[in-house]
Amino acid sequence: MTDCAEPADLLEIALQAADVAVALITQQRPNHLATSTKSSPTDLVTEMDRRAEQLISDVILAARPQDLIRGEEGVAASGESATAPVTWWVDPIDGTTNYVYDHPGYAVSIAAEVDGVTVAGVVADPTHGRTYHARAGGGAWCDETRLSLAEPPDLADALVATGFAYIPERRRAQAKVLARIIDQIRDVRRMGAAALDLCSVAAGRVDAYFEAGLSQWDYAAGSLVAVEAGAVVCSLEGGAVRPGSVLCAHPALAAQLVDLLAEA
Ligand code: IPD
Ligand code: CA
Ligand code: CA
Repeated sequence: MTDCAEPADLLEIALQAADVAVALITQQRPNHLATSTKSSPTDLVTEMDRRAEQLISDVILAARPQDLIRGEEGVAASGESATAPVTWWVDPIDGTTNYVYDHPGYAVSIAAEVDGVTVAGVVADPTHGRTYHARAGGGAWCDETRLSLAEPPDLADALVATGFAYIPERRRAQAKVLARIIDQIRDVRRMGAAALDLCSVAAGRVDAYFEAGLSQWDYAAGSLVAVEAGAVVCSLEGGAVRPGSVLCAHPALAAQLVDLLAEA
């Protein structure tokens, strides 16, 4: 298995790693969760983020020692990027603020990338007991249920999720964009975990999602779930998705949202 990176095998490894991380962060959650901050005073991190990332890395590297782990907390030992057959994008707890407050909606997010393409992804949501998963060409799933996007509403009737960066100036800019579009859509949701926001588009719990400032560990797994459910995941301008610029919706709605954001 180490030499051929079959998406189905990579998905199995991601599911196993997500399972052990979910067990850790739910069963061993301390009563008093100590937090420290990272990029800004609002960017929280806990010991559980680091421990979960280490555990995920251990599971992946036990199965595939030559792979590269790119984790948000940077705790994972990993191989050389030039020779690694698979790059794993790991967000051990996406939605750390929700986790710290015991607010529903945080997730373990793990994606496997081969030759620059995400081929397997898992987003495990312990508070709701749901695991989203996908492999390239294999459809999008929430546990045993296949996900498929319905026809989208008009933009004016669309429920749109978004998120905010941790840097204050960026937040102000994002809030201004939101103020300019809020009266042209049904409403806005800010749930607090980008990986789950993407899965929520796939599951039809929101009609669209956009956010500036994300990293690849935030969106790699959730994007594959959304795409396999029939959504488009692109940049805010409608080009190829990239770190810092993510928009996700049914293709017909995505085009309208790109135009609206361009005006905003
Ligand atoms: C954050 C969450 C949040 C999004 C932020 C992310 P973290 O990830 O996904 O919803 O708005 O941009 O950084 O820090 O909780 O892993
Ligand atoms: Ca994240
Ligand atoms: Ca995180």
